[in-house]
Amino acid sequence: MRIIAISNNKGGVGKTTSTVNIAAALQILGYKVLVIDIDHQAQATYHFGIDPNKVKYSVYDVMSGEVNYREIIVDREGLYILPANTMLRNIEFLPVPAKEFLLRDALEELNGYDYVLIDCPPSLGVLTLNALTFSKEIIIPLQVQFLPFHGMYNLFEALDMVKKRLNRAIRVSGIIGTMFSAKREINKEVLEETEKRLPGKLYQTLIRENTALQEAPSWGKTIFEYKPDSTGAKDYMNLTKEIVMRDI
Ligand SMILES: Nc1ncnc2c1ncn2[C@@H]1O[C@H](COP(=O)(O)OP(=O)(O)O)[C@@H](O)[C@H]1O
Ligand SMILES: [Mg+2]
Repeated sequence: MRIIAISNNKGGVGKTTSTVNIAAALQILGYKVLVIDIDHQAQATYHFGIDPNKVKYSVYDVMSGEVNYREIIVDREGLYILPANTMLRNIEFLPVPAKEFLLRDALEELNGYDYVLIDCPPSLGVLTLNALTFSKEIIIPLQVQFLPFHGMYNLFEALDMVKKRLNRAIRVSGIIGTMFSAKREINKEVLEETEKRLPGKLYQTLIRENTALQEAPSWGKTIFEYKPDSTGAKDYMNLTKEIVMRDI
């Protein structure tokens, strides 16, 4: 079972879009996939067409020990989702020690999935730490439009801390270049710089800028359901094949 956190402390870089569409591509390729939405904004939950206001329980209830995860997994035609809702914000205020381990402890018995993808919030707070403590890998979406290394420094610092104190096994398995446009010179500069600083981490497949990727969430559909012929669908399928191949 590969457990992968899709994480970057910067918002708007393509974490949710990547989580949802990589999960969908994995399902098409025949894998059994669970997506855990651990962002209290519940964007991945929405993207899958699930209304977070209508789910009775969320990852919050699993983490706080109220319900067993098996009871709340949504079966979306063979793709499985542990939904989020705004309650997740309250994890911070739970009066329990060692809050970084809540997810790992609650999912101790999880099995039967080929891939578990966790859509992280845009911060390095307790929710992201829970995801990184439970995961074996992290994949970092990187918007190639801005020189991003300042922000990534914080992420790598946090990862070092996680490795030392919470989860020695975690590895960065790859970096996804998102919102790419060949027309912008800065995109190439960012990619070259990334390759220089983190050699071999970038996936060959870049996710090009694509309006269909932007539209799909409001229909509650993955890109493969919404526009299977779009460049977004092609890119996410190619990327997913690379992720499958690069099994660390
Ligand atoms: N390749 C892309 N082309 C165009 N728009 C994109 C692309 N990837 C993501 N977006 C849009 O950018 C915004 C931020 O993406 P999102 O996946 O929600 O980022 P994050 O989860 O990191 O905050 C969303 O509106 C999304 O639809
Ligand atoms: Mg998001």
